[in-house]
Amino acid sequence: MESMGMINDVIISAFKDKRILVTGDTGFKGSWLSIWLLSLGADVYGYALPPVNVSDNFLRTKLNEKIKHINGDIRDFNSIKEYTGFVQPDIVFHLAAQPLVLEAYKDPVTTYETNVIGTVNLLEAIRATPSAKAAVIVTTDKVYKNYGLKSGYTESDELGGSDPYSASKACSELVVNSYAEAFFKDRNINIATARAGNVIGGGDWAENRIVPDIFRYIHSNREIIIRNPGYIRPWQFVLEPLLGYLLLAAKLFLEGKFYEGAWNFGPDLSSQCTVLELAELFIKRLGPGKIKILEKHTAYKEEKILMLDNSKAIKFLGWHPSLSIKESIDFTVEGYMQEEEAGDLLEQRMLQIHNYTQAAFSENNLHMNNFIV
Ligand SMILES: NC(=O)c1ccc[n+]([C@@H]2O[C@H](COP(=O)([O-])OP(=O)(O)OC[C@H]3O[C@@H](n4cnc5c(N)ncnc54)[C@H](O)[C@@H]3O)[C@@H](O)[C@H]2O)c1
Repeated sequence: MESMGMINDVIISAFKDKRILVTGDTGFKGSWLSIWLLSLGADVYGYALPPVNVSDNFLRTKLNEKIKHINGDIRDFNSIKEYTGFVQPDIVFHLAAQPLVLEAYKDPVTTYETNVIGTVNLLEAIRATPSAKAAVIVTTDKVYKNYGLKSGYTESDELGGSDPYSASKACSELVVNSYAEAFFKDRNINIATARAGNVIGGGDWAENRIVPDIFRYIHSNREIIIRNPGYIRPWQFVLEPLLGYLLLAAKLFLEGKFYEGAWNFGPDLSSQCTVLELAELFIKRLGPGKIKILEKHTAYKEEKILMLDNSKAIKFLGWHPSLSIKESIDFTVEGYMQEEEAGDLLEQRMLQIHNYTQAAFSENNLHMNNFIV
């Protein structure tokens, strides 16, 4: 427990009273990250499109009453530049993106504009803002050239992307690398990319994602429709990669350029399972539910297997995935259940962050010694 206190102290020293800009704060991961930063005592500023529906975590937690958020489009260079100049952030987290594979097939132009040009716009805005000392740019496990590797991709593996979403994120990796080399090398601004798997947790109501679909269908007592039942994905509870992003940003901010580059934050290989297995585990946990498998639902191609090798984050950040798949499902179910209870959902989210942190930093899960500076 003493170590947990020390690690918390280091994270708090990186974020407490700092000005933090989070793009994509109205989204699933961005809203959770903003809540976590609030609980660390940060001064949080958000920039994103407005939330999409009334169930979104951002609205349900009334986050806009606690952080300073503006609605803005990352494709609008003048707007993001002006806002970044106004905020004068110490640290930036970039999560604003078009994050859906199927949507990218339908609208590749918007996807590339948002994910590639949006990243260029943000980096230009950071370049013009001397206060910014560290930035974490969130990409995805899908940036790797996928040749069905079962042991997991490492950060030095080749980038690829045979669908528009994956390619747009691989492009954004190249953009970040070019800015680090061309513009930030001799400046006191340290930047890295973070690649994580498929996150699950309360507050996600996106279309065409398996877990929101399960909760939508269970509520309406209908069948749960599953595409690609045999596809293996690196499922992880949302707070697992977010802890990685926080540790990475803290290291970039406190210690510098050694932490630049790309970082994987995936689950343990043991907690990876197929889409169908995940649905069955949820149904086992939640009670009756019927599954309908759509065998040939779409002409769009998705990769059958995606795995990440976390060795680098374990070795240099002390980060480690802490939860089994069962524990991730328990936290997720609890998160969705909290939305049905009366009371302050923001407080409930903060409590879940506290409980997750306890689990992640417990003696049994202690891989964090490297983190202590
Ligand atoms: N959810 C996952 O399983 C997963 C997995 C790997 C990587 N990611 C990445 O994590 C990040 C966050 O994903 P998420 O699941 O929270 O997605 P989300 O759809 O819940 O949130 C996306 C956010 O980006 C904002 N956004 C979209 N287009 C914008 C634009 N043109 N201008 C400004 N803001 C815009 C939205 O308003 C929202 O705040 C994305 O970069 C995504 O690619 C997500």
